[in-house]
Amino acid sequence: MIYLDNAATSFPKPEGVIRAVTYAQRYAANPGRAGHELSLSAEKIVYYTREKLALMFNSSVENVVFTKNCTESLNIAIKGTVSQGDHVVVSSMEHNSVLRPVEYLSSKGKITYDVARVYPDNDEKTLSEFQKAIKKETSLVVCSHASNVFGSVLPIEKIGRLCKEKGIVFVVDAAQSAGMIEIDIEKMNIDILCLPGHKGLLGPMGTGVMIIKNAEKTETLIHGGTGSMSLNLKQPEFLPDKFESGTLNLPGIAGVSAGIDFLLTKRNSLEAERALINLLKEDLKNIKGITVYDNMHGKIFSPVLSFNLLNFHSEEVAEKLSQSGIAVRAGYHCSRLAHKTYETDKNGTVRVSVGLFNQKKDIKNLVFCLNKIAMNNNM
Ligand code: ALA
Repeated sequence: MIYLDNAATSFPKPEGVIRAVTYAQRYAANPGRAGHELSLSAEKIVYYTREKLALMFNSSVENVVFTKNCTESLNIAIKGTVSQGDHVVVSSMEHNSVLRPVEYLSSKGKITYDVARVYPDNDEKTLSEFQKAIKKETSLVVCSHASNVFGSVLPIEKIGRLCKEKGIVFVVDAAQSAGMIEIDIEKMNIDILCLPGHKGLLGPMGTGVMIIKNAEKTETLIHGGTGSMSLNLKQPEFLPDKFESGTLNLPGIAGVSAGIDFLLTKRNSLEAERALINLLKEDLKNIKGITVYDNMHGKIFSPVLSFNLLNFHSEEVAEKLSQSGIAVRAGYHCSRLAHKTYETDKNGTVRVSVGLFNQKKDIKNLVFCLNKIAMNNNM
């Protein structure tokens, strides 16, 4: 199997991740719930993982909250932060993990929202769309760092500065960038950073992170046991306990920790991944009937490329590739609005997303198969 679906989850997981998950189940129990050896061993795993994440994104250990995935982090960040009558701005590249919570709140009459159009090749134009969309009652801006479909990277540092000037909470969905593209929450003025543990960080699925600077502005959505202040019926207000009720996914967290360790041994991995995408772009030019959706014009991008072949629906191409042992994701990628922005909402796109373990020969094999599909086509 040639795996080119790393934007859905990274695969394979490093051996160290698999070992760490197993270790956590053999030698650790429930973290923060008792003073016995197995609980303390678990607590250490959790603490060191928080510490690594805090270092990676320039935050403090207590501001790192574990969730079950990036979608859960975004739900807390969005639903927990808005109040009745607020206005929210999102970008036109958002995933349903942002759009559905926002649309839900809007359908209940709690908020109104506007979409700022993204121009992947022109950051100033994108910024001006955000400026235009912001109103005096805007309390929240939510924005993807990188598109899961097209790889375009949004100017989050500039949008962050704008939000800071206007006193607006800035939430960033780093599902497709965390662990790949550098993120500094201070420099970028990010109030809440949401990310998965299983994509760029190479950990197991079922792991998410929310790094939150200012806990007072955000309500928790889940209440319950935290292992702290057990005699008090009120949810603790301090971090991370405010947002971490119930037993944590310790094996998952241990896996994220090992994933980060592995990542730190790799230098220039993003450059290598981008080189593979550039190679693919070059090779696709020689296939008749290919449409590549790439309007980054030399700007930085996450290692993802979308295309279509002839008149095929994207799912048909993915199915044919799958029969040849190549895994890609096609269709609409839970990102209707991004497809509308690129006018690919009719057939969706075939998405290739490379990861740390891909090599040149994977791209060459993919191109060979696409050529075969194009040549056998009678359409
Ligand atoms: N959001 C993930 C993707 O883009 C699952 O495939």
